[in-house]
Parts: sequence; C-alpha cells; structure tokens
Amino acid sequence: MNVKKKFLIGYAAAAVIALLAFEYAFWSNGFSYLEKQSEAGYLTQAEMLRDILLAELQGDADLAASSEAFAGRYGEKYQIRITIIDKDGNVLGESDGPGPAMSNHLDREEVRKALAGESNSMIRRSATFGLDYCYCAVPLKKGEFQGVIRTAVPMEELRNMDDEFLRSTVFAAAILLLLALSLVMYFRKYVSAMKAVEKQRREFVSNVTHELKTPLTSIRGFVETLKNGAMEDEGCAGRFLDIIDIETERLGNLIDDTLLLSEIEHKKDVRQEPCDVNEVIAEVTELLAPKVKPHVRLIFTPDPGVRPFTCNRDRLKQLLINLADNGLKATEFGAVTIQCKSTASHLVLEIADTGIGMEAEQTERIFERFYRVDKGRSRAQGGTGLGLSIVKHIVELYRGSIRVESRPGEGTTFRVELPYY
Ligand SMILES: Nc1ncnc2c1ncn2[C@@H]1O[C@H](COP(=O)(O)OP(=O)(O)OP(=O)(O)O)[C@@H](O)[C@H]1O
Ligand SMILES: [Mg+2]
Repeated sequence: MNVKKKFLIGYAAAAVIALLAFEYAFWSNGFSYLEKQSEAGYLTQAEMLRDILLAELQGDADLAASSEAFAGRYGEKYQIRITIIDKDGNVLGESDGPGPAMSNHLDREEVRKALAGESNSMIRRSATFGLDYCYCAVPLKKGEFQGVIRTAVPMEELRNMDDEFLRSTVFAAAILLLLALSLVMYFRKYVSAMKAVEKQRREFVSNVTHELKTPLTSIRGFVETLKNGAMEDEGCAGRFLDIIDIETERLGNLIDDTLLLSEIEHKKDVRQEPCDVNEVIAEVTELLAPKVKPHVRLIFTPDPGVRPFTCNRDRLKQLLINLADNGLKATEFGAVTIQCKSTASHLVLEIADTGIGMEAEQTERIFERFYRVDKGRSRAQGGTGLGLSIVKHIVELYRGSIRVESRPGEGTTFRVELPYY
C-alpha cells in the first residue's frame, strides 16, 4: 500500500472512530441526562400549577367549577396537557377538552401514586394518543376535596433531537471524508511538486558536475602534455597555456553563475533601491565594449523619459549583461541595440541583434539551465549555458515577463517587461 492510501485510510479511520465514540457517549449519557432534566423541570411546573390553582380558589365548591377553565387557560399558555382528577379518578377539567381523555383515570399509575400522596413523574406511552409523554402528577388538597393535578408533555421533540443528532453525525462524517479527500489531493500535489523539485535538483547537480569535469579534464590534459615536453616548444606552450587560461576562466564563470543562480532562487534580494536605468545600461555598454567585434556596433540611445526602477542594481545589470553578451556572441556583422522605455505600468527593455538567430524550437528551450544551441560554439566562447536561466530568474524575481523573437540568419530580439510598484 502506498503512502497516499495509508494516509487516507488512517485519517478516515481516526475520524470515524472519534465520531462513533462521541455519538456513543452522547447517546448513553447525554440523552438520558436530558430526559431526567426535563422530567424534573416538568414536575416543578406541575407543582407550581397546583399552587396557582389553590391560590385562585375561594372555597371547596369552586374547585369542580373552575377546573375546566383553569386547565384550558394554563394548558394553552404552557402548551401542555393539564388534567384535574378527583379521588375517584373522574376528570374534572381537561385542557384538551372532552373526549376519550375524559375516561376514568384510576388505572394511570402516576395518578394512583399522587392520590396516595406522592408527587411523581414518569415517561410512558399515552394510551390515548399513542405517543411518548412525560406525565407529572401532584396531589391536590383543598378542605374536604382530594384529587390530582396532572400534566402531560409530549417527548417527541426530545426524541426528534435524537434523529436530528444522527443526521448531523452523518453530515459531519461526510464533511470529514471530504476533508480527508481534499487533504489527500493536496498531499498528492505536494508530493509531485517535491518530486519535480528533487528531479530538477538531481539534474542540476549532474549537469554542474559534468560541466566542471570538462574544463578540468582539458586543463589536466594540457598540463600533462606541457610536463611531457611541450614546454620546450615555445609556440605550443603559449597556445596550451592560453587554452588552460580560457578553461580556468570558464570554471570560474561556472562557479560564479551557479552561486548567483542559487542566490536568486532563494530570493536573497534585500538591497533594493531606485535605479537610474539609463545609467545602468551605459555602464553595461562600457563593460562590454572590449567584446564588440570589428564589424559590429553596440548601440544605446538613452531615453530621458525612463523613470527610475526600484530593484537590486546588480541584478538589473546582470540581466542586461547576459542578454547583450549573448547578442554580441551571436553577431558577426551589424549591430546589437539596447532600448529602454517606461510605459504607465512597466519598464520595457529590448535587446536586439542582427546575428545568427535561432529556430522556433530552440527559442523554446534557451531558458533551460545548460541548454545551448551549439554546445561547441558556446564552450569556445567561455559560455556556461546558465546566462538566460539567470535572466529568467531575475525577471521572475521582479514579477515581470520575457519574450524572445528570432529568425535564423536574421537576428534575435529579447523583450523584458518589469512592472513598477
Ligand atoms: N541572441 C542570441 N542569438 C542566438 N542564439 C542565442 C542568443 N541568445 C542565446 N542564444 C542561444 O541560447 C543559448 C543559451 O544562452 P545562455 O546565455 O543561457 O548561455 P550561453 O550564452 O551559452 O552561456 P553564458 O551565458 O553562461 O556565457 C546559447 O548558447 C545560444 O545558443
Ligand atoms: Mg549567455
């Protein structure tokens, strides 16, 4: 059984056990407690009614005459059944009016007990109505008169509560199950996201290792060749040392780029300040001037309308260097042009070149780490294949977007849009 299934079953089982335990506890204790409480309350009410009746009466004869009216009035007021019975079991007053309820009441247990002098209550099925009632009977004495005042309250509501409780338990169980399901779905998504991250990490490590190994092997090889006698040949030695120099620089670039990428990924971007974008681009063109080939021009005309952009200046500079550097590397004739403008909501940067360009399927992949259209060419130029990956991460850091348009043999244009906040 996989982890997901175990998790779902475990959660559902725990939820059901908890619900059943709660249900059992409530059924076994809760309802009987509620019934007892209600019974005690109804008995007190019956005694209170007896006191009111006695207080309202003037003399003994009055009792038989007023019973009907008293039972009707208070029966309606408290929404209960009130019966006033004499010592022979005859009904003197009945809130539900004449009918089968008027039969002799000596056969009712609670009435017999009350006639024996004991206030009592009990829950039993009514012979007249076929429903469960709580009966409370209280002795009634006034001068010569002896009888019983009895109340009957239907217990249906309490019983209905029982059903209601069952329904809400089922409802709660259904919600718990839904909750468990959504938790599993979330868990599933989380696990696949983690797997994707883990896969990416492994690929990255293996790529970095490979990329580090290549220049190292090359350096080792040339050092070995030099040691084995190539040192004596001045021309050879110079060429080999140049290669070792390039490879060492590439190793350095790779380490720098890897560190930069991990730094951007972890969003360590505390130093944010309003940047003069024209100034940053001017610095970039100055920095890249030595890389501009004889038949290529690096063009930048500052736009005075560009508003300052709040960001980490080094990141913005890195983004521009990486894009312009790619343009310069790809262009043998023509120009690499950097343009910058501010719209109402965005800073727009455009880096266009008249270089070798790319096929559509290649432009789809260039932001992947270590992807290079021409591995040999990029390597010869000291490239790591991480430049555009870094650009993409910087753009994402500022919640912007990047688009590329390219045609083989005609050139490439990168357009970056970064929102102002
Ligand atoms: N302006 C461009 N014209 C043509 N191809 C480009 C252009 N920009 C990028 N590419 C292609 O995309 C690949 C990936 O670019 P990226 O900047 O990530 O790596 P790189 O330039 O090879 O190495 P690095 O930037 O680390 O020096 C490049 O190797 C190149 O093949
Ligand atoms: Mg690059």
